[in-house]
Amino acid sequence: MSAVSEGEQLAPVLAAAPAADGEFVEITDADIEQVVELWKTCGLTRPWNDPYVDIADALAGEGSTVLAARAGGRVAATAMAGHDGHRGWLYYVAVAPELRGTGLGRSAVVAAEAWLVARGARKIQLMVRTANTEVLDFYGRLGYTDQECAVLGRWVESD
Ligand SMILES: CC(C)(COP(=O)(O)OP(=O)(O)OC[C@H]1O[C@@H](n2cnc3c(N)ncnc32)[C@H](O)[C@@H]1OP(=O)(O)O)[C@@H](O)C(=O)NCCC(=O)NCCS
Repeated sequence: MSAVSEGEQLAPVLAAAPAADGEFVEITDADIEQVVELWKTCGLTRPWNDPYVDIADALAGEGSTVLAARAGGRVAATAMAGHDGHRGWLYYVAVAPELRGTGLGRSAVVAAEAWLVARGARKIQLMVRTANTEVLDFYGRLGYTDQECAVLGRWVESD
């Protein structure tokens, strides 16, 4: 039998420890249904964006992720983060309606920012739908300002 150090014995136990309530960690496959449910509840889904595909894409690469925090065993808040090689971007910042105003939204953004900064991001950006002006003050409280840029886009064929 080979000798096992105390650190080696503890490692599997620590790795399996569940995240504490309010702690943002990368989601697993087991979280996906609750994450999508939260995004629908928060009005963040659109017919042209399949949330399951968005999650799969974000989890597939090294430069993107979906972070979530739990409350009472349920997914309560999320943020998707992605580094495009130039800027870090935030998407799907969401907090369950009954838990808003308790700092979870700020914590989601802070956690996603930290994730992006750790991957080299020097500036974090996000898009707010023009119909969602009420959220602008939330981002303002977190230091985000209007970058006075129009966002243009078009769909491209992938095959
Ligand atoms: C926007 C959202 C994530 C905020 O979550 P939250 O948990 O209520 O936010 P917090 O409690 O962390 O608030 C952080 C700060 O923003 C302020 N704030 C939060 N929502 C606000 C609002 N609608 N208007 C003005 N200020 C707001 C808080 O007062 C707080 O200020 P302070 O820290 O200086 O006291 C949440 O309302 C939500 O999920 N909305 C629906 C989804 C959405 O629109 N997401 C953004 C897509 S771009």
